[in-house]
Amino acid sequence: MLFDLDNHEGKLNTMTDIITMLGIESSCDDTAAAVVQRINGKANILSSVVVGQEILHAAYGGVVPEIAARAHAEQLDIAVETALIQSGIKLDQIDAVSVTAGPGLIGGVVSGVMCAKGIAAGINKPLIGINHLVGHALTPRMTDSIPYPYLMLLVSGGHCQFLAVFSETEFHRIGGTIDDAPGEAFDKTAKLLGLGYPGGPLVEKAGKKGDPMRFKFPRPLLDRPDCNMSFSGLKTALRRARDLLVLEKGGITEQDRNDLCASFQMAVADTLAEKTNRALDVYKKMANSKYFAIAGGVAANTLISEKLGAVSQQHNFTTFTPPLKFCTDNAAMIAWAGIEQYSAGLVDNMTLAARPRWPIDQKAEPMLGSGKKGAKA
Ligand code: KG4
Ligand code: ZN
Repeated sequence: MLFDLDNHEGKLNTMTDIITMLGIESSCDDTAAAVVQRINGKANILSSVVVGQEILHAAYGGVVPEIAARAHAEQLDIAVETALIQSGIKLDQIDAVSVTAGPGLIGGVVSGVMCAKGIAAGINKPLIGINHLVGHALTPRMTDSIPYPYLMLLVSGGHCQFLAVFSETEFHRIGGTIDDAPGEAFDKTAKLLGLGYPGGPLVEKAGKKGDPMRFKFPRPLLDRPDCNMSFSGLKTALRRARDLLVLEKGGITEQDRNDLCASFQMAVADTLAEKTNRALDVYKKMANSKYFAIAGGVAANTLISEKLGAVSQQHNFTTFTPPLKFCTDNAAMIAWAGIEQYSAGLVDNMTLAARPRWPIDQKAEPMLGSGKKGAKA
């Protein structure tokens, strides 16, 4: 299925052996810049700077868009300058500038796009707008040089989808969440249990000391044969279990909290594992490669990545999980996606727009946050 490149202008002939790309990412709560080179087909990540904003959002238990946008505007120049210094590359050695142009929190995306336009205009080099999800989806090619095609599970705080990746512009969505992303469910669970933000690592840590069998949380949508998922009911089930404990005993003990975390985590892991099993079956009918890649912050969860790895092995697939710093939001993946699109001759111009919504597979039915403005992701 062909990705509709309606944001791209014209084609370039760029069959050079070395491409040097500056990448910029600011679609959520990380301000990031990186310099990546492709030398004879292989990635050389010269720098990858990520300025996190956790401390600014911690008190709210989630990302506050206005605070994020202001912080991006303040940090972008510094992140770019640091990435250039660390890479040893001068601006005039950069072939092009790639930037996340969506989907994401619009204030942050606008900040990044404006910054990239300024740099591209200043050095008179092409500008390339990258879909954030394409950045995640192509990461295993940057870190492990895996060939097309492959099956990808993108599982983060904002996204959860299975993608068959055929080329830098061809993605077929096999399934995804119809409501919350798993990372979001982890963050909300942490908030409900007073653990802090971001919740994933804290829930995982507490869960290690807990009993995963104590609470019987649902495994949503397993009764349906497709590869779609739902995680918002799980969070409601956890809140009910917590409230029941409070009603019965006047509060929850540390052991109760650990058991709640362990049981919640097991429910997410079981659901993702079974849906991965089905997605692999669907993928096998579409392509004959045996590569399965996982990316996104939730891939950092040991139980989840072990379960997914085991399912993939049962299908005789090789599993790739990029190093955590390239699994979570970063600009190296945006630079790499820029390299792939640049070498395919796809560049933008100064009319590049920031897009809060930008589905990676535009032919698939909208499933997440779709409304008057169309599908979010
Ligand atoms: O990919 P990412 O850095 O940002 C985007 O959402 O795009 O993912 C962040 C998400 C957060 O929701 C965080 O709670 C979750 O990944 N996360 C985890 C773990 N580490 C991070 N979830 C479960 N277990 C973890 N160890
Ligand atoms: Zn992301």
